[in-house]
Amino acid sequence: MQSSSTVGFQLPENPTTSQSSNDPQLMHATTVASQLEMYRSIFQNATQNTSTSSINNYKISEKIAEGSHGVVFRGMSMISGTMVALKLIKKLAKEDGVSTNLIHEAGILQQVQHRNIVTFIEVFMENSTLESPANCWLITEYCACDLLDLVMVPNLPISVLHIKSLLQSLLKGVAHLHKRSIMHRDIKKGNLLIDNHGVLRIADFGLAIQVTKLTRTLKTNIGTMVFRAPELLLDDIHYTKKVDIWNVGWVLFSLFTGKPGFNVQTTNQVLTKLTHMCGSITEDTYAGCQNLEAYKGYRKRNSLNWPRMVMVMARRAAFGPDTEEISDKNEPSHLQRDLKESGIMGIELIDQMLTLDPTKRPTAAEVLDNEWFKMEPLPNPSISDLLGEYKKYHREKKFRAYGEDHKSN
Ligand SMILES: Nc1ncnc2c1ncn2[C@@H]1O[C@H](COP(=O)(O)OP(=O)(O)OP(=O)(O)O)[C@@H](O)[C@H]1O
Ligand SMILES: [Mg+2]
Repeated sequence: MQSSSTVGFQLPENPTTSQSSNDPQLMHATTVASQLEMYRSIFQNATQNTSTSSINNYKISEKIAEGSHGVVFRGMSMISGTMVALKLIKKLAKEDGVSTNLIHEAGILQQVQHRNIVTFIEVFMENSTLESPANCWLITEYCACDLLDLVMVPNLPISVLHIKSLLQSLLKGVAHLHKRSIMHRDIKKGNLLIDNHGVLRIADFGLAIQVTKLTRTLKTNIGTMVFRAPELLLDDIHYTKKVDIWNVGWVLFSLFTGKPGFNVQTTNQVLTKLTHMCGSITEDTYAGCQNLEAYKGYRKRNSLNWPRMVMVMARRAAFGPDTEEISDKNEPSHLQRDLKESGIMGIELIDQMLTLDPTKRPTAAEVLDNEWFKMEPLPNPSISDLLGEYKKYHREKKFRAYGEDHKSN
């Protein structure tokens, strides 16, 4: 998965200070203390209950993935018999005697039960005491695959209706998070799981943050670089939940076009690609951009005034000849060419969500209210038929590999 460009959660992210407080230091200390208190209580709940919180209660069957922050295994709960995913962080960095990374993720996940968010089961330390924490495990429900793996299946018969259904599920999950003032900050196909019933579930809350009135500034070098919103790329430390909407726009764009994203390495390169795709960043397209320090450099490098082009690009990429501006890589082309009126409406949503000015980007609730979701064919909460194709493809692949092995022996 795209891991090299994501950065880990650090506690506390920009220790928060009150804009209205007369004593910022006191506010800072209070916020940090309450955050640590939350971690402590989650950790203690997990470790006190030794009968349920132990790795011995799980049978691990195979490694699913190795992310930038840990390893994920498939397994089974010996108590309930259910399939689970076990995310392991090894050799924890200690922060006040408590590992922060998974505990933080667990703390957020515990607050956000929703049909379109992965279900939290528990978090615990293995063979640990508060003084010397060892491995830390986060247990969630097991899902069949992530969206990135799903769309990589060759000739996957994905239709506009599937895309509409996936987008609606994703937006419902995002709206739920945003209502609770939680920003995910790393929405991408690899972090969107498809459960065994074909329902999309948002996962990987390692970079998520709950923004409160006390939150003053935020880290901007966060999330997968090529999908970062312009305000992050221009180092706006006061960004909002709209960064997630930008990422949802990218997911939708990528589903329609089969393009995974820009194949570039640096922030400046992403900004240049974005300029070609969405038009130049100017006061007209992004009010207030001139107040951002990083904008001066951008202006120097991108002196041409590019028109707004995303619609043209998206349409060309979806309907007809490819355009290398968008990506140097291609996923297999899987979208059936049934983009009639309904498809065009979906593509218009890309345009809205990939708006340079975050204040002009719609909220998740506003996008959900779009006519597209009320039009026939109506979206389904599940894409079980595509999941069936995924399973079939992987079953056959396993058989083929088994056959090859036997031939060579
Ligand atoms: N509950 C789950 N069920 C099935 N697969 C899962 C589950 N949780 C995670 N995975 C798989 O493991 C991968 C890595 O998990 P996750 O994104 O939580 O870890 P990460 O270390 O933050 O990874 P990255 O940095 O690559 O985003 C996911 O992309 C997904 O393929
Ligand atoms: Mg991830």
